[in-house]
Amino acid sequence: MFQKVRPYMGEYMKYTKRAAVSVTIAVILSVVPYFLLYQIIAPLTEGGSITLGFVLLRVAITALCLAGNAILYVYGLSLSHLSAYNTLKNLRIALQGKLEKQPLGVIRELGNGRIKKVFTDDIETIEILLAHAIPEGIGNLVTPAAVLIAMFFADWKLALLSLAALPIGMLAMGMMFKLGMSRMEAYYAAATRMNNTIIEYINGMEVVKVFNRDGESYERFEHDINSYRDMTLEWYKVCWPWMALYSSILPCVALFTLPIGGWFVLRGWSTLANFVLVLCMSFGIGAPLIKAMSFGGRIPQLNYKIEELERLLDHPPLKSSDRAFEGKNHDIRFEDVHFSYKEDEVIHGIDLEIQEGQMAALVGESGSGKSTLAKLLVHFYDLNGGRITLGGQDIADMRVEELNDQISFVSQEQFLFNTSLYENIRIGKPDATREEVLRAAHLAQCDEFLARFPLGIDTPAGDGGKMLSGGERQRISLARALLKDAPVIVLDEATAFIDPENEEKMNAAISEVIRGKTVLIIAHRLHTVMGADKIVVLDNGRVEAQGTHEELLQRSEVYPRLWAAAQQSIAWEVRA
Ligand SMILES: Nc1ncnc2c1ncn2[C@@H]1O[C@H](COP(=O)(O)OP(=O)(O)O)[C@@H](O)[C@H]1O
Ligand SMILES: [Mg+2]
Repeated sequence: MFQKVRPYMGEYMKYTKRAAVSVTIAVILSVVPYFLLYQIIAPLTEGGSITLGFVLLRVAITALCLAGNAILYVYGLSLSHLSAYNTLKNLRIALQGKLEKQPLGVIRELGNGRIKKVFTDDIETIEILLAHAIPEGIGNLVTPAAVLIAMFFADWKLALLSLAALPIGMLAMGMMFKLGMSRMEAYYAAATRMNNTIIEYINGMEVVKVFNRDGESYERFEHDINSYRDMTLEWYKVCWPWMALYSSILPCVALFTLPIGGWFVLRGWSTLANFVLVLCMSFGIGAPLIKAMSFGGRIPQLNYKIEELERLLDHPPLKSSDRAFEGKNHDIRFEDVHFSYKEDEVIHGIDLEIQEGQMAALVGESGSGKSTLAKLLVHFYDLNGGRITLGGQDIADMRVEELNDQISFVSQEQFLFNTSLYENIRIGKPDATREEVLRAAHLAQCDEFLARFPLGIDTPAGDGGKMLSGGERQRISLARALLKDAPVIVLDEATAFIDPENEEKMNAAISEVIRGKTVLIIAHRLHTVMGADKIVVLDNGRVEAQGTHEELLQRSEVYPRLWAAAQQSIAWEVRA
């Protein structure tokens, strides 16, 4: 039952065990007063008498037991919380370790919302299982079991009567679990869908408002929230009757003992003293049984929860080795590269060569696979077939950090940390001097907008760079890449958000910086890559043709079309 959680508990397992023992003793202490009560009543049933001292002593012991119960219960729970929160810590660290080994692309696809939910909410739900369900479930179950055994020694007939309610209760409980579990999967799926929709709804609010799509977007939002409600109610609906049945029958140990036991006494099959004893004990274990049920029943969830957490990150870790980058130069080769994000292959056997110092441009319709190839080159994902080499060395046969040192990548999606813009640029080269950072910012055409901020380059970027426009964020990212000054540069539509006048300047800056480097550039305006050593035309995940601009105008079917479209868009800009 605990096999999944044990590795994460580590040395704290002993605290959980101690907690269970402590709570068990606490529960025993809570039952003792009922036995003392019996001692007071029993002599009276046999016509005897008791002294005041006899009663007072038992009252005093009862007070002690109750105090001991409170202290031990609290002590036990403090131990179990110590263990629980350390286990949560270990779980988070282990998950972080797994997360770190996941392909970067996979992490991006999971999304911030989902990852945050796993690390905070999902892990936190394990707390109640570890800190409460285990010690309280065990303690409250062990004690009633022990008391029942004691009852058998006192009077087995009456004890059997006390047990008679158990099978009915257990049956109800079993039914509830069986029906509940079968709906668990659907329930969790509905919960996940609702979370994702809420996140998407909030993130997309801007678009929704601008395009007046409040209605449609809200419909989906409402649909998913409703379906979560329906799933939950559905779950309760099948479970409730059984829950009501077992929670009323199980703790009611006196259900049969009282009427039938009374009859036994009248017939002389049991003594009145034993009858009183068994009744007192029955009342004593009612409360613990209720607790045992509410907690004990949740222990099986523990495995399910942890399995779910592990499953989220069970994508095979990114392939890499311990080798350093040992390439003899920076030639890039794609050899029969196949790749699929999910089931459908999107890159169908690509061969491509970029020699050191060359500038190659990828062009093609949107969705043809340009960004995917860029991401594969920087090893965001592993390939499904073929290989990519840098200087003759497979990029999967070196440490990821080593590859990162060789390549500056400016991706289509920009991310800025919530520190100053200065620090954001300096990530590219942590030991850079202030002059170097300023120069990179200058080259990336940041001066003009930095001058607008009172703090200039020391302005905080705001959460995720929200304070800057898309074009400004791109320029900061470009500055970061320029500062890094790696031998290979990969630019994915790095100037897409920049207005035409600035783009001119930026392209000038880019061509300055990439001189002598090996470059893979994806340009969203074709004329900016006209002069590339090699232009590769992608079409539906295949290389349709490659060559220089002039060659492609002759040789390619797709390229002239792209070129005509590009000319047209320039014409529009001029008119505007
Ligand atoms: N994260 C992803 N998951 C699944 N499919 C994706 C993902 N990213 C891109 N694709 C698909 O891969 C194909 C190529 O996309 P992409 O490389 O982004 O094209 P381009 O950059 O040329 O516009 C498209 O069909 C796109 O839908
Ligand atoms: Mg793209």
